[in-house]
Amino acid sequence: MSQITTKTLLQMKARGQKIAMVTAYDYPTAERMDAAGMHVLLIGDSLGMVVQGHSTTIPVTVDDMIYHTKMVARAAKQSMVVTDMPFLTQSISPEDALRHAGRILQEGGAQAVKLEGGREVAKTVARLVSAGIPVMGHIGLTPQSVHAFGGFHVQGRTKQEALRLLDDALALEAAGAFSVVLEVVPGEVAKVVSDSLSIPTIGIGAGADCDGQVLVFHDMVGYTAGYIPKHNKRYAQVGRTIEEAAKTYIEEVQSGLFPGTEQTIHLREDEREILLSLEAARLGRIRQNEPDTVEEPKK
Ligand code: KIV
Repeated sequence: MSQITTKTLLQMKARGQKIAMVTAYDYPTAERMDAAGMHVLLIGDSLGMVVQGHSTTIPVTVDDMIYHTKMVARAAKQSMVVTDMPFLTQSISPEDALRHAGRILQEGGAQAVKLEGGREVAKTVARLVSAGIPVMGHIGLTPQSVHAFGGFHVQGRTKQEALRLLDDALALEAAGAFSVVLEVVPGEVAKVVSDSLSIPTIGIGAGADCDGQVLVFHDMVGYTAGYIPKHNKRYAQVGRTIEEAAKTYIEEVQSGLFPGTEQTIHLREDEREILLSLEAARLGRIRQNEPDTVEEPKK
C-alpha cells in the first residue's frame, strides 16, 4: 500500500470511512503504529509535556519538532506524517510561518504541518498552502493558548463560542486547510462543524461524529502516570507492564539469576586454549609485580 496523503483523507471523508490518528515522537513507536495501519502519525507539540516533562507545550521549539519528525518520518511507510508548528511560529507573520513550516518539511521529512488557531491564522494557512505545504488546522482547546484560556477547559460551551468555532472551521477550510482538529468541544457542536465542512474533522474529546479521532500515544497505551483526561481511552497498560519488567530485572540482577547461561557468550571447545594463554598472562603479570628482593628497612 502506498503512503497516505491529504487526498486519501479527503476520499475517506467522502466515503464515510473514519480516520485514525495518533501522536508519535520516535522511531520504534512510529514503526509499530505504521505496521498497525494507523492513517496519520502526528508529531504533536504535546511532546513537550509527554516526553520532555514540561507543564505546557509552550517551551517546545521548531528544532525539537524537526528532531522528532526525522525519527518518525524514517519509520513511516504508509502512515501520513503531520508535524505541529510550535508556539508563535504560526502567528508572527505568514512569511515567518512559511520559513518554519518549510524547515519542518525539508529537514524533518513531514508531509504536512498542523497549526493552532482559527480565522486569525487563515492568511497564514493560505500562504503555506500556496507554497505547496499542506496544512491541518486545530481549533477548540488549543493548548498553546492555555494561559489565555486560564487553563485546559472545554471550548464551545456557550452560543458565542460555538458560533466562533464554526466560523473558524469554515475560515480554515476556505484558506485551503485539508483537515481540522477539534479539541475538547461538546460532541453536538463538533457534529455541526463536521457536517458543515467538506474536509475531515479529527476530534479529540469532541465526540463520535467527527470524521476521525486522535489520541496521544502515551495516554492511549496507558504509558503515562498521573492525570488522565476524560476523553482518553486506555487500550493497554504499558506503563504497568514496563514497571513490572523493571522490578523483575532488578531482582534478577541482584540475585544472580540474570544473566543466565543462555544470555552468556561461551568459548567454543576449539577456542579454549585462549584460556590457557590468558591464565599464563595473568600469572606473568603477578610475577612481574612481585618485588625481587626485600629491601633493608632504612635506619
Ligand atoms: O500536540 C498534540 O499532540 C495535539 C493533539 C492532541 C491533537 O495537538
